[in-house]
Amino acid sequence: MSLKIPHHDINLEPTMAKAPDFNRKSERMQTERSFKSEIIAAIPLTAQEKLFHLRICDQAERENFSFLPGQFVMLELPGCGEIAISISGSSSNHEFLELCVREVGTVTGLLHRLEAGAFVGIRGPFGTHFPMRKMKGHNILLIAGGLGIAPLRSPIYWANEHRTDYEDITILYGARDPGQILFDYQFDEWRKIYDLKLLTIVEHPDEDWNGHVGMITDLFDDVPVDPDNTFAIVCGPPVMFKFVCSYLSDLGLPRQRMFVSLERRMHCGMGKCCRCNVGSTFTCLDGPVFDYWTVMNLQEAI
Ligand SMILES: Cc1cc2nc3c(=O)[nH]c(=O)nc-3n(C[C@H](O)[C@H](O)[C@H](O)COP(=O)(O)OP(=O)(O)OC[C@H]3O[C@@H](n4cnc5c(N)ncnc54)[C@H](O)[C@@H]3O)c2cc1C
Ligand code: FES
Repeated sequence: MSLKIPHHDINLEPTMAKAPDFNRKSERMQTERSFKSEIIAAIPLTAQEKLFHLRICDQAERENFSFLPGQFVMLELPGCGEIAISISGSSSNHEFLELCVREVGTVTGLLHRLEAGAFVGIRGPFGTHFPMRKMKGHNILLIAGGLGIAPLRSPIYWANEHRTDYEDITILYGARDPGQILFDYQFDEWRKIYDLKLLTIVEHPDEDWNGHVGMITDLFDDVPVDPDNTFAIVCGPPVMFKFVCSYLSDLGLPRQRMFVSLERRMHCGMGKCCRCNVGSTFTCLDGPVFDYWTVMNLQEAI
């Protein structure tokens, strides 16, 4: 008997939540195979985060590698370990992958000490993605807290590259303080995208900050949300997306039209090690992207 919660998501794209078929050779090769990759840039963004540009060394493998916004890779530092990292760049960039990594422990610490010219391994891509095609014809509301802007950057690129597919695009981004805001060097470029509104807010301003101050939900005073015509993607710490999603829910936005990315400790990324389970759900296979209705029905998900 399956213990799985029936998937209620009316918006699920056919390619989402599709577990790899381990009997198919190509699928297995893509998930088990580690692609040797060169760090071609390691760009400091803040005191804790760096943006890495990784180029898969083999040309054929590089050209074959494709992903959709919301998916992640397992990044391997030989002899040190392997970690799950969301792909942060454009899915149309076949030259290099962009990963934004916060230094928190052993593997991320070593990675931060590596420079351009060093080699790492990449497996993947893994997991479900944001249903960008289902969002066609609707407003998109992209909400990020802190490092949550890293997975959100991919759908921002997608929405820009397919701009005519969507109505209004709104990005709301909150950080603890101005020093922790990521990718601010791109904000002017993003604001030039047709009908795109970008608002930022910090909890603890410094003397140079002249923008919004408060919690991310305070930005909703300046952003009308049309519950009948909007999809939301919310990335950030669980406490943040819980508040944001309940707020949106109170505005009448259906929970099946809000998408979040769940982070759990992951080891294999492919449903083998049972490290990432929430009940009978594997966040590496069934997620990390879930609609909020599903998340609310997963015990201990948030
Ligand atoms: C699908 C997915 C996407 C992710 N995307 C990104 C990303 O884009 N950028 C990024 O910087 N990080 C991301 N992470 C988190 C990243 O995987 C962890 O920070 C990393 O595994 C820590 O490894 P470490 O060896 O440096 O830390 P460790 O030495 O293993 O642990 C150091 C500290 O980090 C905590 N930690 C470890 N792993 C996780 C985790 N998965 N989630 C939360 N806390 C953790 C530990 O509890 C401990 O307190 C993602 C995780 C998942 C599952
Ligand atoms: S990470 Fe191994 S089962 Fe999900």
